[in-house]
Amino acid sequence: RTTALIAGSVGKDGYRHFMDKELHEHPVVIGQTLQRLIDPATRRVMLPDLPFDLAGLPRAAITACGSAFYAGLIGRYWLEGMAGLPVDIDVASELRYRDPPLTPGGLGLLISQSGETADTLAALRGMRARGQHILSVLNVEQSTMARESDVVLGTVAGPEISVASTKAFTAQLSVLACLTIAIGRARGTLTAAQEQDLVAELLDLPSRANEVFDQAPAIREMAAVVAEARDVLYLGRGSSFPVAMEGALKLKEVSYIHAEAYAAGEMKHGPISLIDSTVPIVATLPSGRLFEKTLSNLQEARARGGRLLVFTDTEGEARLRGLAEIVVALPTVSEFTAPVIQTIPVQMLAYEVALLKGTDVDQPRNLAKSVTVE
Ligand code: G6P
Repeated sequence: RTTALIAGSVGKDGYRHFMDKELHEHPVVIGQTLQRLIDPATRRVMLPDLPFDLAGLPRAAITACGSAFYAGLIGRYWLEGMAGLPVDIDVASELRYRDPPLTPGGLGLLISQSGETADTLAALRGMRARGQHILSVLNVEQSTMARESDVVLGTVAGPEISVASTKAFTAQLSVLACLTIAIGRARGTLTAAQEQDLVAELLDLPSRANEVFDQAPAIREMAAVVAEARDVLYLGRGSSFPVAMEGALKLKEVSYIHAEAYAAGEMKHGPISLIDSTVPIVATLPSGRLFEKTLSNLQEARARGGRLLVFTDTEGEARLRGLAEIVVALPTVSEFTAPVIQTIPVQMLAYEVALLKGTDVDQPRNLAKSVTVE
């Protein structure tokens, strides 16, 4: 296990691929990113000085591309649900041409590993022209987007070499979680005591994330099933839905297997017709408020002959044994931090499938790490 400080390391450090190395850096990266934004003594979030007032923000517009967009979707659940802030979100390639009416003085929230993605940069400029305060969550802090932002909140993920993004994602979530707490505090939706509890949950993440790697054997079993499939359905509800999207994207990128993510409740409006024993269903289902709802969607899929491969947690595990073919029981954490933990194994699954398929894991065909053209 890698626990050394990673920022600056550009070798494979004994791993077979950068993607594997970077997957194993999740715990460290989460810890390093949180360290910048949290005072452990007071258990409070400390953002850098901002040139605008968080309490006065009328709403936020989030945009990004690829995996960063899915991090933004999770951020929306947090900002709306915990900070009471209305949020618009769209992929940057659409937002830049949508011409949405944005309330002046709103927050334009951009998320990008590279800080150079052409569509995200264009969306940033469009938001600025519409009077938004520009806050960017960036991994490369010396980038074009950094120079054009009012504030940069850095993800401390170190260099990400693998074309498919992994560790940058949980670092982005770490920043978005802290931003949500800061905005919730400013808007009065979170008390100081609640903030301390949430911060404690965040500070617990690096060690919980480390425990995810104990599940590697079960994830490899899942990979053997997925590698035989032509199509795979990913399901999740609430903040697990973007986790499902990230899982499906990662699988497509590195294994070239067709995968689609659906909100679990939407399955009955279409994709249920696809279900048979040749289309495995990968579900992300942590315990909590939405567990029973998604469980019943999985029971429907099982009744139609679907093969269920499920990521849950130690609390949800017993309910899934007997229903699912393979169950991966991750550490049980709060509903708030669950998407951070649940993302790691879906990315690991894509990696393991790519190994079985023998693809060029770090440089998948037709993809670029940084897309600086439209
Ligand atoms: C490319 C990469 C993806 C990444 C996306 C956004 O498509 O292959 O892994 O999520 O760009 O990149 P950014 O640097 O803006 O996060």
